[in-house]
Amino acid sequence: MTEVREHFASRLGTILTMVGVAVGLGNIWRFPYLVGRYGGAAFVAFYVLVALVIGVPALLAEWTLGRHTGRGTLGAFQRGRLPGGRFVGGALFCVVVAATAYYTNVVGWVLYFALSELLSSIGIALDASAILPPETGVSGRSILLQVACTGVVIASCAFVIDRGLRAGIERASTVIMPTLFVILVVLIVRSLTLPGADEGVRWFIGRFAWRDLTPTVMVAAMGQAIFSLSLGGTFMVTYGSYLPAGTPLRTSAAWTALGDTTAGLMAGLVIFPAVFAFGLSPSSGPGLLFDTLPRVFGQMPGGGLFGALFFVGLFGAAFLSDVAALEVLIAGVVDNTALTRRKAISLMAAIVGLVALVPMINLKIFVAWDLTFGSGMQALGALLSVLTMGWFVQRATLLEQLGDPGPARRILVTCIRYVIPAAMLTVGLWWLLTDLLHLLPTV
Ligand code: ALA
Repeated sequence: MTEVREHFASRLGTILTMVGVAVGLGNIWRFPYLVGRYGGAAFVAFYVLVALVIGVPALLAEWTLGRHTGRGTLGAFQRGRLPGGRFVGGALFCVVVAATAYYTNVVGWVLYFALSELLSSIGIALDASAILPPETGVSGRSILLQVACTGVVIASCAFVIDRGLRAGIERASTVIMPTLFVILVVLIVRSLTLPGADEGVRWFIGRFAWRDLTPTVMVAAMGQAIFSLSLGGTFMVTYGSYLPAGTPLRTSAAWTALGDTTAGLMAGLVIFPAVFAFGLSPSSGPGLLFDTLPRVFGQMPGGGLFGALFFVGLFGAAFLSDVAALEVLIAGVVDNTALTRRKAISLMAAIVGLVALVPMINLKIFVAWDLTFGSGMQALGALLSVLTMGWFVQRATLLEQLGDPGPARRILVTCIRYVIPAAMLTVGLWWLLTDLLHLLPTV
């Protein structure tokens, strides 16, 4: 019923793949716009703290759940003996279908923006904003452009996945991640050398004040850490099932959290100095990337080239997260049906393509979709993963999976059993009371 499970080839390949899963739109689109919305340094400081203190043990919980059970989302919770685990796995699988659909649409927008910046660097104008869905109603032109770009993205993801874990996903990650890092360094140098850039740096990381650290800011930072590290009982559980047994994981988890956090900080150092240098607002919300930044590149000397580099880098990062999302679905089908990997790829690519038509319609639908399947459900899935590993898998198994005994392992166990569930329940409850039930104000 199942094909032989492939495992990662090398340690470096594993870390780059895991960083590739984590780094995506979350770091370069969502993180900067949340920093803009929540006022800068206090949000950033708390985010870094949470990404490392909660992120590392939570990553370990998800990886070891996948490794111990040898299953991705569809199967891991059941084999981990979580009551109702079969239903939880099925529900999270459906969440990933919906999340992959809207995430792929945004990767398609990024592709179109990259194309537009590339063309503008050789003097050809292409209105990239035409691909963005309208606020309400329907735009035939936007839908057509999105169908084309989302189609290209899905086909490219399917191509990489079809080559397998080592020859496809791991190899793509070892090329794309270092390239993204180099691109970010080039862009940071460009941004920091603009006149007036220092004001943006000060605003981003230089003006910490305790009074800015409100509960809303803390909860938003925690939710962002979960999103950005791809926690949620899905991507990391599935990729965890490809980790070879017996390999120590703590250092890899620390590198993954560090790599992901660094990518977000680097993106901020590209965006904010440039935004301030041109006198624009850092708090334009989700439009920061698709509205404010193209205007920044439009005014900057050599802006077409730098804009193209920015959107190409962003495309690479988001593409690897999208590959991981689709891989969750493919692993689920291959593990639980008699379908071959290739047939599973065609089936899930077609389903995601069809579902993606809905959040393409307008931003009202898109934003509700993002809040439900991107933010809320991820926190819930992450919570269920740590609970499964901390309380339902045998304690001896948890200890064995976490590696050598000692104070580090004791701290990890405490975090997985108590600290993370408490922190995640707070995020989940806050989301319920603000975004879903509107019983408390969002900001
Ligand atoms: N963690 C992925 C991202 O940040 C989903 O985009």
